[in-house]
Amino acid sequence: MKSISRKILLNPGPATTTQTVKEAMVVEDICPREKEFGKMLDSIKDDLVKVVHGEETHHAVLFTASGTGGLEAAITSAVPKGKKLLVVENGAYGTRMVKIAETFGIEVVRYQIDYGNYPNISHIETLLTNNKDVSHLAVVHHETTTGMLNPVQEICDLAHRFQVEVIVDCMSSYAGIPIDIKKWNAEYLISSSNKCIQGMPGLVFVIFKKDLLEKIKDTKRSFYFNIYNQFNGFEKTGQMQFTPPVQVAYALRTAIDEYFTETEAGRWNRYKENYNTLYNGLASLGFEFLLPDNQQSKILLAIKEPAFPKYSFEAMHDYLYDRGFTIYPGKGAKEATFRLSVLGDLHKKDIEAFLLCLGEYLLTIK
Ligand SMILES: Cc1ncc(COP(=O)(O)O)c(C=O)c1O
Repeated sequence: MKSISRKILLNPGPATTTQTVKEAMVVEDICPREKEFGKMLDSIKDDLVKVVHGEETHHAVLFTASGTGGLEAAITSAVPKGKKLLVVENGAYGTRMVKIAETFGIEVVRYQIDYGNYPNISHIETLLTNNKDVSHLAVVHHETTTGMLNPVQEICDLAHRFQVEVIVDCMSSYAGIPIDIKKWNAEYLISSSNKCIQGMPGLVFVIFKKDLLEKIKDTKRSFYFNIYNQFNGFEKTGQMQFTPPVQVAYALRTAIDEYFTETEAGRWNRYKENYNTLYNGLASLGFEFLLPDNQQSKILLAIKEPAFPKYSFEAMHDYLYDRGFTIYPGKGAKEATFRLSVLGDLHKKDIEAFLLCLGEYLLTIK
């Protein structure tokens, strides 16, 4: 394989991947309708459920798409006609779920607060009390807009008291932050191949309670993103209904193997170590953060834009990019921020090298 220089991606996915995940994409050509490929996909589906300890209770279904496709599949497959979706909206990805639902004519009850504010469970309870026709609640676990870890356990417990099913967007937390889906008892969880699982972009998966299949059989809103058809199609034929991204699937297979080798605790500890290194380094450079520590996912930091007269995100980005580090702009948080994430195949020495480079840049503008 040609040698490729290693880049440090501090954007929240697609992430820095291992050399072995990159190499896993260089495979013999294979028709995805062959049994050999189907078996590999089947093992991926089983292992994706294992990551969140849902083997007994949940299935996984794969779609060829970015993360948003999986959200669209869950929302359009789950919410029955005539029922409403309540969305916890404290970041751009909550708002995205509102937009998806509205596109398909699903009525939405919005629990809308500033991007960066913490959800108030009793306000959500009031919305559930006042809207008896809400059948589903959607929430983002790790709101990548701000780095906030939303209180999914409390939200699931509350929703279930109202017989409301829960759709959790775990795009940027799955396989990073340990999740026990049985404990949450969440009905749907969505993530994609290119974030904390550390594969390549192109596949999204919905993990859903096994006993929901029959219930969603007749909720036909989308042809492509239909969980019932996609899951049953695979069960019957061992093939995805529509062309899968073959090489991306091989990369995901390797990424999942690497996850289990590192272990759930090992990955989480590595991410937390990187986060603490980043946090302390930024604090000593004089940066301040959007969120209080107790609301932090420890996967991403939203950093307040500094008041230096010569500061420009673009100039800082270009300086760092030229030196192998990718940083990320803000996304509508309640204060102006830029963002840095530790998800991906990153190690303490990468974060230290980044901090050194950032420090050098700051000297040029102070
Ligand atoms: C929490 C969350 N939800 C949804 C998405 C959308 O995923 P994609 O851009 O892959 O469609 C992202 C992307 O960063 C995300 O972080």
